[in-house]
Amino acid sequence: MKELLKHKDISFEKVENAIAVTNPYNLEVLAYVKKTSVSELEEIIKSSQIAQKNWREKTALQRADILYKWYELMKKHKESLAKIMTLEQGKSINEARGEVDYSASFIRWFAEEARRVDGDILTSVRNDQKLLVTKEPIGVTAAITPWNFPSAMISRKAAPALAAGCSMILKPASQTPLSAYALANLAYEAGVDENLFVVINGSASQISKCFCDSKIVKKISFTGSTEVGMLLYEQSAKTMKKLSLELGGNAPFIVFDDANLDKAVDGILASKFRNSGQTCVCANRIYVQEGIYDKFSQMIAKAVAKLEVGDGLKESTKQGPLIDEKAVLKVEEHIKDALNKGAKCLLGGKTHKLGGTFFEPTVLQDVTQDMLVAQEETFGPLCPIFKFQTDEEVVEFANNTDFGLASYIFTTSVSRQFKISQALEYGMVGVNTGAISNEVAPFGGVKFSGLGREGSKYGIDEYTQLKYTCLDIGE
Ligand code: SIN
Repeated sequence: MKELLKHKDISFEKVENAIAVTNPYNLEVLAYVKKTSVSELEEIIKSSQIAQKNWREKTALQRADILYKWYELMKKHKESLAKIMTLEQGKSINEARGEVDYSASFIRWFAEEARRVDGDILTSVRNDQKLLVTKEPIGVTAAITPWNFPSAMISRKAAPALAAGCSMILKPASQTPLSAYALANLAYEAGVDENLFVVINGSASQISKCFCDSKIVKKISFTGSTEVGMLLYEQSAKTMKKLSLELGGNAPFIVFDDANLDKAVDGILASKFRNSGQTCVCANRIYVQEGIYDKFSQMIAKAVAKLEVGDGLKESTKQGPLIDEKAVLKVEEHIKDALNKGAKCLLGGKTHKLGGTFFEPTVLQDVTQDMLVAQEETFGPLCPIFKFQTDEEVVEFANNTDFGLASYIFTTSVSRQFKISQALEYGMVGVNTGAISNEVAPFGGVKFSGLGREGSKYGIDEYTQLKYTCLDIGE
């Protein structure tokens, strides 16, 4: 495992003024990571520009082959990558293995897409003119990624950037930088130049300001909070940057009377309890129609009670610790607010007896629209169950938020599947499934959930710009 972490910026001995990366399971320090200063970053940006110019000269096939090699190396080192992830992030080893596969799938996909960055020849307005549209790499790009998916959120940005002929400077979350270095080392082994894909760490506000202020950096891709996304949007205005922003969510999960209830329970386990509830696409509000409300609430509580909480490295663990104390406080705040306003606790409700940042998977019933959890993303293992009567009412409840990332509906009625998914103001809708993410589909939101799409055939467009050439062939 340490082999993958051999990097000039990582030390296993204590270093002053470095970031200590800790294991959220037992708070042991795993490694120290160098903080890059603003002046060092300015030099890195310049080197990245040179590397990008060389990289864009390669053929699409050469770039694709290097990316494919990177994908193969990830598969080869899957177990070590998963272990690094569990140690620094806390998620269960089975989820970590799943994330390594998910992460690698973006590299494979964009290795394939690298060969299809096709333009157009337009139907001309004149016989003596040819109108060409080509897609060019945007240039030097930067990415800022979160701790909840320490690998997949990186490859979902870096792979399309490199496939399109761009370079990328990556600032991973300071809680989980080790997966980023491991990923970068495998990229170098595959043939990516060390100045083309660079991982840096340090003060998030200084680094992001430096990215925003730089005229060389042409694009920033960010996954994280809406608050920070809005700040980046504002700070990037003066350098007119292209932005991709994958921000917060507040996903409704709607279960109609006619739903297959066993399937809906599986959907809740997959969506709500993935990564201990710490994903942007997590079901945040479970709306259940009145005819099945009591029965279904009991079914959820029974299934959730079986989720084993513990050390992520243990094979049987399903729920690891939360990332930090702040995360625990937010879950507690939402539970307290709901109980004070009349909700009933069916399961859990407090910190787990294991201590630290472990939290009991929690199910609340009789949750209503005036409670905090209806408006804010909990980002933890809290499953709040709301009651609704009609289709119109639940659509109104579901859309009554600033966010619009993922949404879920469970119904066996084909007419409802179409009508409700159309009425939901969300970038993504899962119908009869709680697991919608994959490399082929466009991931992204509307409203305050952000801008742009990642993955899919559309994802590479975020790293290209169109050039129109008017070719006059007249004598
Ligand atoms: C996220 O929560 O930020 C991403 C989740 C996913 O890709 O499914």
